[in-house]
Amino acid sequence: MRSLPFLNVPIVQAPMSAATTPQLVAAVSNAGGLGSLPGGYDEPQTIRERIAQTRALTDRPFAVNLFVDTAYDAPASDDALLRAHERLRPYRDELGIPHPAEPARSGLAFAQQFAVVLEARPAVFSFTFGIPDADALRACRDAKIFTIGTAKTVDEAIAIERAGIDAVCMQGYEAGGHHGSFLAPLDDSLIGTVALVSQAVDAVSIPVLAAGGIGDGRAVAAVLALGATAAQVGSAFLLSDESAVPPPYRRVLASDAVRRTTLTRVFSGKHARGVRNRFINEMTDAEDIAPYPQQHWLTRDIRTAATAQDRPEFLSLWTGQAVALAEPLPAAEIVARLMAGARTAAAHAVEALSTA
Ligand SMILES: Cc1cc2nc3c(=O)[nH]c(=O)nc-3n(C[C@H](O)[C@H](O)[C@H](O)COP(=O)(O)O)c2cc1C
Repeated sequence: MRSLPFLNVPIVQAPMSAATTPQLVAAVSNAGGLGSLPGGYDEPQTIRERIAQTRALTDRPFAVNLFVDTAYDAPASDDALLRAHERLRPYRDELGIPHPAEPARSGLAFAQQFAVVLEARPAVFSFTFGIPDADALRACRDAKIFTIGTAKTVDEAIAIERAGIDAVCMQGYEAGGHHGSFLAPLDDSLIGTVALVSQAVDAVSIPVLAAGGIGDGRAVAAVLALGATAAQVGSAFLLSDESAVPPPYRRVLASDAVRRTTLTRVFSGKHARGVRNRFINEMTDAEDIAPYPQQHWLTRDIRTAATAQDRPEFLSLWTGQAVALAEPLPAAEIVARLMAGARTAAAHAVEALSTA
């Protein structure tokens, strides 16, 4: 099996926009795993600052993660954008916030975010939603930045390997947050982590990371047994001391509501897995949802106000199917428990096999 030079333990903390702090990234890297700092929704200057903050907390390697623009992200027409904006007016009225005259738009560009990554030269650059162009990948190679792409299908893993990317993270159906299939529609790309990882390790020779529903050490052992080089774990860190998850979101994550997660595009225009709530129920059949990333910027003021007003029914409560296993502990302790649990589970499997 391939190993990765920056891992002392086979645990990667998944990049989680809006939930990850420099403290979380540094804690996981300091514990021997790989922390990942998300920057997909951040201004270049914010990415620069957060990389510096992380570096002040660890000398160990960590990843910086961005969203790649893809062909599926064609912008809405002005009319469609206005209709999607108008559809949100009742929620603003209910929250008592102003309905802006103009729909909010993103000023972010992948190229500018990526320029900051190149300048900062983190040990690892990971990305999702597609494959950066050949120039960007060449620049990473020249700067000796290790690259990790995200795939939801075996075809995407093969495309990532062919593009010269160093490793691939296979994101299974169970995963929390956005599901960024880029070669086929999402409906054809929803494969469970076990089926996905076992086929990907046979199809490519670059290291494979496994993501989606890895909630404790048993699942870490399982994906390593399938041939993964490491487990990329997201939701299990959402309740960690270092997570940025705000109180209303945290409260839902610690409740039985997490038994009902669903894939929805109502918050950002791209499908993502989160806890079902009122906004999802009411908006799912709405025709007026702008494509990604425009819907993300349209709903942002609503989500900000809902956080401030303690109204989780209007929040994007991104999380995976195994979050019920998450524990409110320091991140280093979570890494230690994942490893101890994996060893116990592996020993159990060996015993079961030897007495069979
Ligand atoms: C709150 C949240 C935010 C996420 N944001 C990102 C992101 O910015 N970039 C990314 O590549 N993946 C993102 N993901 C997906 C994770 O990388 C990973 O695929 C997922 O967490 C794995 O499934 P799990 O949550 O069941 O462990 C996010 C996931 C969550 C739960």
